[in-house]
Amino acid sequence: MTATTKTAHEPETKRTFEVPKHPEWPILTEDEKEALKDRIKRLLKKENAVLVAHYYTDGDLQDLAEETGGCVADSLEMARFGSVQNAPTLVVAGVRFMGETAKILSPEKRILMPDLNATCSLDEGCPPDQFSAFCDAHPDRTVVVYANTSAAVKARADWMVTSSIALPIVTHLKDKGEKILWAPDKHLGHYIQSVTGADMLMWEGSCVVHEEFKSVALERVRKLHPDAAVLVHPESPAAVIDQADVVGSTTALIKAVTHMANKEFIVATDEGIFHKMNLLAPDKVLIEAPTAGHGATCESCGHCPWMAMNALQTLAATLETGANEVHIDPAIRERAVIPIQRMLDFAKRQAKLSKAS
Ligand code: 13P
Ligand code: SF4
Repeated sequence: MTATTKTAHEPETKRTFEVPKHPEWPILTEDEKEALKDRIKRLLKKENAVLVAHYYTDGDLQDLAEETGGCVADSLEMARFGSVQNAPTLVVAGVRFMGETAKILSPEKRILMPDLNATCSLDEGCPPDQFSAFCDAHPDRTVVVYANTSAAVKARADWMVTSSIALPIVTHLKDKGEKILWAPDKHLGHYIQSVTGADMLMWEGSCVVHEEFKSVALERVRKLHPDAAVLVHPESPAAVIDQADVVGSTTALIKAVTHMANKEFIVATDEGIFHKMNLLAPDKVLIEAPTAGHGATCESCGHCPWMAMNALQTLAATLETGANEVHIDPAIRERAVIPIQRMLDFAKRQAKLSKAS
Protein backbone atom coordinates (compact mmCIF):
# COMPACT_ATOMS: atom_id res chain seq x y z
CA MET A 1 0.00 0.00 0.00
CA THR A 2 1.31 3.44 -0.83
CA ALA A 3 1.27 5.66 2.21
CA THR A 4 -0.72 8.82 1.81
CA THR A 5 -1.13 12.03 3.68
CA LYS A 6 -4.57 13.50 3.31
CA THR A 7 -6.25 16.45 4.84
CA ALA A 8 -9.95 16.02 5.27
CA HIS A 9 -10.77 18.59 7.88
CA GLU A 10 -11.05 22.03 6.35
CA PRO A 11 -10.50 24.67 9.02
CA GLU A 12 -12.54 27.80 9.44
CA THR A 13 -10.64 30.65 7.81
CA LYS A 14 -11.37 32.76 10.87
CA ARG A 15 -10.05 31.74 14.26
CA THR A 16 -12.73 30.92 16.77
CA PHE A 17 -10.54 31.76 19.77
CA GLU A 18 -8.61 34.78 20.97
CA VAL A 19 -4.84 34.73 21.39
CA PRO A 20 -4.28 36.80 24.53
CA LYS A 21 -1.64 39.48 24.99
CA HIS A 22 1.23 38.48 27.26
CA PRO A 23 0.44 39.34 30.86
CA GLU A 24 2.63 42.15 32.18
CA TRP A 25 3.85 41.02 35.58
CA PRO A 26 5.14 43.73 37.95
CA ILE A 27 8.94 43.69 38.05
CA LEU A 28 10.07 42.36 41.43
CA THR A 29 13.26 43.31 43.22
CA GLU A 30 15.56 40.38 44.09
CA ASP A 31 14.40 40.63 47.73
CA GLU A 32 10.72 40.60 46.76
CA LYS A 33 11.32 37.64 44.49
CA GLU A 34 13.13 35.68 47.20
CA ALA A 35 10.35 36.46 49.70
CA LEU A 36 7.74 35.21 47.24
CA LYS A 37 9.71 32.04 46.54
CA ASP A 38 10.05 31.38 50.29
CA ARG A 39 6.30 31.85 50.69
CA ILE A 40 5.64 29.36 47.89
CA LYS A 41 8.06 26.84 49.43
CA ARG A 42 6.24 27.13 52.79
CA LEU A 43 2.85 26.78 51.10
CA LEU A 44 3.93 23.74 49.10
CA LYS A 45 5.03 22.09 52.37
CA LYS A 46 1.90 23.11 54.26
CA GLU A 47 -0.37 21.78 51.50
CA ASN A 48 1.78 18.66 50.98
CA ALA A 49 1.88 19.64 47.31
CA VAL A 50 4.31 18.83 44.49
CA LEU A 51 5.06 21.36 41.75
CA VAL A 52 5.32 20.03 38.18
CA ALA A 53 6.42 22.61 35.60
CA HIS A 54 6.98 22.73 31.85
CA TYR A 55 10.20 24.01 30.25
CA TYR A 56 8.35 26.97 28.70
CA THR A 57 7.31 28.46 32.06
CA ASP A 58 9.14 31.23 33.86
CA GLY A 59 12.66 30.20 34.96
CA ASP A 60 11.92 30.92 38.62
CA LEU A 61 9.03 28.45 38.54
CA GLN A 62 11.22 25.83 36.88
CA ASP A 63 13.87 26.25 39.59
CA LEU A 64 11.28 26.16 42.36
CA ALA A 65 9.83 22.91 41.01
CA GLU A 66 13.24 21.25 41.13
CA GLU A 67 14.31 22.76 44.46
CA THR A 68 11.14 21.50 46.17
CA GLY A 69 11.21 17.89 44.94
CA GLY A 70 8.92 18.41 41.95
CA CYS A 71 10.09 18.40 38.36
CA VAL A 72 10.49 20.48 35.23
CA ALA A 73 9.94 18.41 32.11
CA ASP A 74 8.28 17.91 28.73
CA SER A 75 4.61 16.90 28.45
CA LEU A 76 5.29 13.16 28.57
CA GLU A 77 7.46 13.30 31.67
CA MET A 78 5.09 15.76 33.38
CA ALA A 79 2.29 13.21 32.93
CA ARG A 80 4.42 10.26 34.06
CA PHE A 81 6.01 12.06 37.02
CA GLY A 82 2.66 13.42 38.26
CA SER A 83 1.03 10.00 38.07
CA VAL A 84 3.58 8.36 40.40
CA GLN A 85 3.57 11.01 43.15
CA ASN A 86 2.05 10.17 46.54
CA ALA A 87 1.34 13.78 47.47
CA PRO A 88 -2.41 14.59 47.63
CA THR A 89 -1.96 17.85 45.68
CA LEU A 90 -0.15 18.50 42.41
CA VAL A 91 0.37 22.04 41.19
CA VAL A 92 0.81 22.01 37.43
CA ALA A 93 2.58 25.04 35.98
CA GLY A 94 1.96 24.87 32.26
CA VAL A 95 -1.15 24.93 30.12
CA ARG A 96 -4.58 23.46 30.78
CA PHE A 97 -4.18 20.17 28.96
CA MET A 98 -1.24 19.40 31.27
CA GLY A 99 -3.39 19.96 34.37
CA GLU A 100 -6.23 17.95 32.83
CA THR A 101 -3.90 15.06 31.98
CA ALA A 102 -2.70 15.03 35.60
CA LYS A 103 -6.31 14.95 36.85
CA ILE A 104 -7.28 12.19 34.40
CA LEU A 105 -4.36 10.05 35.56
CA SER A 106 -4.85 10.83 39.27
CA PRO A 107 -8.55 11.56 39.89
CA GLU A 108 -8.08 11.17 43.65
CA LYS A 109 -5.58 14.05 43.77
CA ARG A 110 -6.28 17.76 43.95
CA ILE A 111 -4.78 19.37 40.84
CA LEU A 112 -4.19 23.11 40.99
CA MET A 113 -2.95 25.43 38.25
CA PRO A 114 -1.70 29.03 38.55
CA ASP A 115 -4.24 30.09 35.90
CA LEU A 116 -7.01 27.95 34.41
CA ASN A 117 -7.23 30.31 31.42
CA ALA A 118 -3.81 29.10 30.25
CA THR A 119 -4.92 27.16 27.23
CA CYS A 120 -3.22 26.26 23.92
CA SER A 121 -4.05 27.10 20.31
CA LEU A 122 -4.02 23.40 19.40
CA ASP A 123 -6.55 22.60 22.11
CA GLU A 124 -8.71 25.62 21.19
CA GLY A 125 -8.57 24.79 17.48
CA CYS A 126 -9.99 21.30 17.97
CA PRO A 127 -13.53 21.61 19.39
CA PRO A 128 -14.76 18.23 20.72
CA ASP A 129 -18.06 18.20 18.78
CA GLN A 130 -16.39 18.87 15.40
CA PHE A 131 -13.64 16.40 16.19
CA SER A 132 -16.18 13.78 17.15
CA ALA A 133 -17.94 14.25 13.79
CA PHE A 134 -14.56 13.88 12.02
CA CYS A 135 -13.98 10.58 13.87
CA ASP A 136 -17.50 9.37 13.09
CA ALA A 137 -16.85 9.99 9.39
CA HIS A 138 -13.75 7.74 9.45
CA PRO A 139 -14.54 4.76 11.64
CA ASP A 140 -11.88 2.62 9.94
CA ARG A 141 -9.03 4.74 11.33
CA THR A 142 -7.12 4.52 14.60
CA VAL A 143 -7.53 7.87 16.35
CA VAL A 144 -4.24 9.34 17.57
CA VAL A 145 -4.36 12.69 19.34
CA TYR A 146 -1.59 14.95 20.53
CA ALA A 147 -1.45 15.68 24.26
CA ASN A 148 -2.35 19.32 23.47
CA THR A 149 -6.10 18.61 23.38
CA SER A 150 -9.06 18.77 25.76
CA ALA A 151 -10.15 15.83 27.90
CA ALA A 152 -13.25 15.47 25.70
CA VAL A 153 -11.11 15.09 22.55
CA LYS A 154 -8.92 12.52 24.30
CA ALA A 155 -12.10 10.68 25.23
CA ARG A 156 -12.61 10.00 21.49
CA ALA A 157 -9.06 8.75 20.95
CA ASP A 158 -7.40 5.36 20.83
CA TRP A 159 -3.95 6.77 21.58
CA MET A 160 -2.52 9.96 23.01
CA VAL A 161 1.02 10.94 22.03
CA THR A 162 3.43 13.73 22.91
CA SER A 163 6.19 15.03 20.68
CA SER A 164 8.72 12.76 22.40
CA ILE A 165 6.88 9.53 21.67
CA ALA A 166 4.78 10.22 18.56
CA LEU A 167 7.30 8.70 16.14
CA PRO A 168 7.63 5.26 17.81
CA ILE A 169 3.89 5.00 18.45
CA VAL A 170 2.92 5.87 14.88
CA THR A 171 5.62 3.49 13.58
CA HIS A 172 4.16 0.76 15.80
CA LEU A 173 0.64 1.41 14.43
CA LYS A 174 1.86 1.54 10.85
CA ASP A 175 3.67 -1.80 11.31
CA LYS A 176 0.35 -3.28 12.46
CA GLY A 177 -1.22 -2.04 9.20
CA GLU A 178 -3.40 0.58 10.89
CA LYS A 179 -4.59 3.73 9.14
CA ILE A 180 -4.46 6.80 11.36
CA LEU A 181 -6.70 9.76 12.01
CA TRP A 182 -4.38 12.40 13.45
CA ALA A 183 -5.20 15.56 15.41
CA PRO A 184 -4.76 18.39 15.91
CA ASP A 185 -1.27 19.63 14.89
CA LYS A 186 -0.85 19.48 11.10
CA HIS A 187 2.87 20.36 11.22
CA LEU A 188 3.73 17.66 13.73
CA GLY A 189 1.45 15.28 11.81
CA HIS A 190 3.13 15.98 8.47
CA TYR A 191 6.55 15.57 10.05
CA ILE A 192 5.58 12.20 11.59
CA GLN A 193 4.06 11.13 8.28
CA SER A 194 7.19 12.10 6.35
CA VAL A 195 9.42 10.04 8.65
CA THR A 196 7.20 6.97 9.12
CA GLY A 197 5.33 6.87 5.80
CA ALA A 198 2.13 6.08 7.73
CA ASP A 199 -1.29 6.65 6.22
CA MET A 200 -2.50 9.69 8.20
CA LEU A 201 -5.63 11.74 7.81
CA MET A 202 -4.96 15.14 9.39
CA TRP A 203 -6.85 17.71 11.39
CA GLU A 204 -5.73 21.23 10.45
CA GLY A 205 -4.58 22.68 13.77
CA SER A 206 -1.36 24.53 14.52
CA CYS A 207 0.60 26.13 17.33
CA VAL A 208 0.47 29.92 17.07
CA VAL A 209 3.97 30.18 18.53
CA HIS A 210 5.86 27.63 16.41
CA GLU A 211 4.01 28.58 13.24
CA GLU A 212 5.74 31.98 13.42
CA PHE A 213 9.23 30.61 12.79
CA LYS A 214 10.24 31.82 9.33
CA SER A 215 12.19 29.59 6.95
CA VAL A 216 13.72 32.28 4.68
CA ALA A 217 14.91 34.32 7.65
CA LEU A 218 16.29 31.11 9.18
CA GLU A 219 18.36 30.50 6.04
CA ARG A 220 19.88 33.95 6.53
CA VAL A 221 20.68 33.32 10.20
CA ARG A 222 22.29 29.99 9.28
CA LYS A 223 24.54 31.78 6.81
CA LEU A 224 25.64 34.16 9.58
CA HIS A 225 26.35 31.20 11.89
CA PRO A 226 27.54 28.39 9.59
CA ASP A 227 28.81 26.23 12.48
CA ALA A 228 25.62 26.44 14.51
CA ALA A 229 23.40 23.38 14.88
CA VAL A 230 19.72 24.04 14.16
CA LEU A 231 17.29 22.62 16.75
CA VAL A 232 13.60 22.57 15.85
CA HIS A 233 10.46 21.52 17.73
CA PRO A 234 8.24 19.53 15.32
CA GLU A 235 5.26 21.88 15.79
CA SER A 236 7.14 24.18 13.40
CA PRO A 237 6.34 24.43 9.66
CA ALA A 238 7.94 21.89 7.28
CA ALA A 239 10.23 24.48 5.65
CA VAL A 240 11.76 25.16 9.07
CA ILE A 241 11.95 21.48 10.04
CA ASP A 242 13.73 20.79 6.72
CA GLN A 243 16.65 22.95 7.89
CA ALA A 244 17.05 21.21 11.26
CA ASP A 245 19.98 19.18 12.50
CA VAL A 246 17.79 17.91 15.33
CA VAL A 247 13.98 17.73 15.38
CA GLY A 248 12.47 16.75 18.70
CA SER A 249 10.59 17.35 21.91
CA THR A 250 11.71 19.99 24.39
CA THR A 251 13.69 17.32 26.24
CA ALA A 252 15.38 16.16 23.03
CA LEU A 253 16.38 19.74 22.16
CA ILE A 254 17.83 20.33 25.63
CA LYS A 255 19.78 17.06 25.37
CA ALA A 256 21.12 18.15 21.98
CA VAL A 257 22.57 21.35 23.45
CA THR A 258 24.33 19.42 26.20
CA HIS A 259 25.54 16.47 24.07
CA MET A 260 26.48 18.01 20.71
CA ALA A 261 29.99 19.35 20.20
CA ASN A 262 28.79 22.56 18.46
CA LYS A 263 29.37 25.82 20.30
CA GLU A 264 26.39 27.63 18.74
CA PHE A 265 22.75 26.55 18.42
CA ILE A 266 19.86 28.15 16.57
CA VAL A 267 16.74 27.17 18.50
CA ALA A 268 13.23 27.11 17.00
CA THR A 269 10.95 26.66 19.98
CA ASP A 270 9.51 28.71 22.84
CA GLU A 271 12.18 30.89 24.45
CA GLY A 272 11.30 29.52 27.92
CA ILE A 273 13.54 26.57 27.04
CA PHE A 274 16.66 28.76 27.14
CA HIS A 275 16.55 28.79 30.93
CA LYS A 276 17.27 25.07 31.23
CA MET A 277 19.65 25.07 28.26
CA ASN A 278 21.70 27.89 29.83
CA LEU A 279 21.81 26.12 33.19
CA LEU A 280 23.00 22.83 31.71
CA ALA A 281 25.34 24.25 29.06
CA PRO A 282 26.46 27.74 30.16
CA ASP A 283 29.35 27.76 27.67
CA LYS A 284 27.10 27.29 24.62
CA VAL A 285 25.77 30.19 22.54
CA LEU A 286 22.00 30.03 21.99
CA ILE A 287 20.41 31.97 19.15
CA GLU A 288 16.65 32.42 18.83
CA ALA A 289 15.35 31.24 15.46
CA PRO A 290 13.76 34.22 13.67
CA THR A 291 10.03 34.92 13.86
CA ALA A 292 8.01 37.77 12.42
CA GLY A 293 9.43 39.72 15.36
CA HIS A 294 8.25 41.45 18.51
CA GLY A 295 6.82 44.31 16.51
CA ALA A 296 4.34 42.07 14.70
CA THR A 297 1.88 40.40 17.02
CA CYS A 298 1.95 38.79 20.42
CA GLU A 299 2.25 35.46 18.64
CA SER A 300 5.49 36.43 16.93
CA CYS A 301 7.72 36.82 19.94
CA GLY A 302 8.66 33.16 20.38
CA HIS A 303 6.94 32.87 23.76
CA CYS A 304 3.61 31.20 24.34
CA PRO A 305 1.15 33.75 25.80
CA TRP A 306 -0.62 31.01 27.74
CA MET A 307 2.56 29.61 29.28
CA ALA A 308 3.33 33.22 30.30
CA MET A 309 0.26 33.20 32.57
CA ASN A 310 2.26 31.07 35.00
CA ALA A 311 4.03 33.43 37.40
CA LEU A 312 5.30 33.42 40.98
CA GLN A 313 2.35 35.66 41.91
CA THR A 314 -0.35 33.38 40.45
CA LEU A 315 1.35 30.29 41.85
CA ALA A 316 1.43 31.77 45.38
CA ALA A 317 -2.21 32.91 45.13
CA THR A 318 -3.38 29.48 43.96
CA LEU A 319 -1.62 27.72 46.82
CA GLU A 320 -2.99 30.23 49.33
CA THR A 321 -6.62 30.15 48.21
CA GLY A 322 -6.94 26.68 46.68
CA ALA A 323 -8.53 28.37 43.66
CA ASN A 324 -8.00 27.10 40.11
CA GLU A 325 -8.64 23.46 40.84
CA VAL A 326 -8.95 21.26 37.73
CA HIS A 327 -12.17 19.23 37.50
CA ILE A 328 -13.06 16.66 34.84
CA ASP A 329 -16.45 15.13 34.18
CA PRO A 330 -16.07 11.53 35.51
CA ALA A 331 -17.65 10.02 32.35
CA ILE A 332 -15.13 11.85 30.15
CA ARG A 333 -12.28 10.96 32.50
CA GLU A 334 -13.17 7.27 32.39
CA ARG A 335 -12.82 7.28 28.59
CA ALA A 336 -9.91 9.75 28.31
CA VAL A 337 -7.64 7.78 30.63
CA ILE A 338 -7.48 4.91 28.11
CA PRO A 339 -5.35 6.61 25.38
CA ILE A 340 -3.16 8.32 27.96
CA GLN A 341 -2.45 5.14 29.91
CA ARG A 342 -1.83 3.30 26.63
CA MET A 343 0.88 5.85 25.81
CA LEU A 344 2.46 5.61 29.28
CA ASP A 345 2.48 1.80 29.11
CA PHE A 346 4.10 1.97 25.66
CA ALA A 347 6.73 4.41 27.00
CA LYS A 348 7.44 2.06 29.92
CA ARG A 349 7.93 -0.91 27.59
CA GLN A 350 10.22 1.18 25.39
CA ALA A 351 12.31 2.31 28.37
CA LYS A 352 12.69 -1.33 29.51
CA LEU A 353 13.75 -2.42 26.01
CA SER A 354 16.33 0.34 25.66
CA LYS A 355 17.73 -0.48 29.14
CA ALA A 356 18.04 -4.14 28.18
CA SER A 357 19.82 -3.42 24.87
P1 13P B 1 6.89 18.99 24.63
O1 13P B 1 6.05 17.80 24.97
O2 13P B 1 7.94 18.71 23.61
O3 13P B 1 7.45 19.61 25.87
O4 13P B 1 5.95 20.09 23.93
C1 13P B 1 4.83 20.64 24.52
C2 13P B 1 4.35 21.85 23.83
O5 13P B 1 3.30 22.36 24.10
C3 13P B 1 5.20 22.42 22.79
O6 13P B 1 4.63 23.57 22.29
FE1 SF4 C 1 0.18 25.24 22.74
FE2 SF4 C 1 2.02 26.28 21.17
FE3 SF4 C 1 1.71 27.21 23.65
FE4 SF4 C 1 2.77 24.74 23.21
S1 SF4 C 1 3.66 26.73 22.64
S2 SF4 C 1 1.22 25.29 24.72
S3 SF4 C 1 1.57 24.11 21.43
S4 SF4 C 1 0.22 27.34 21.96
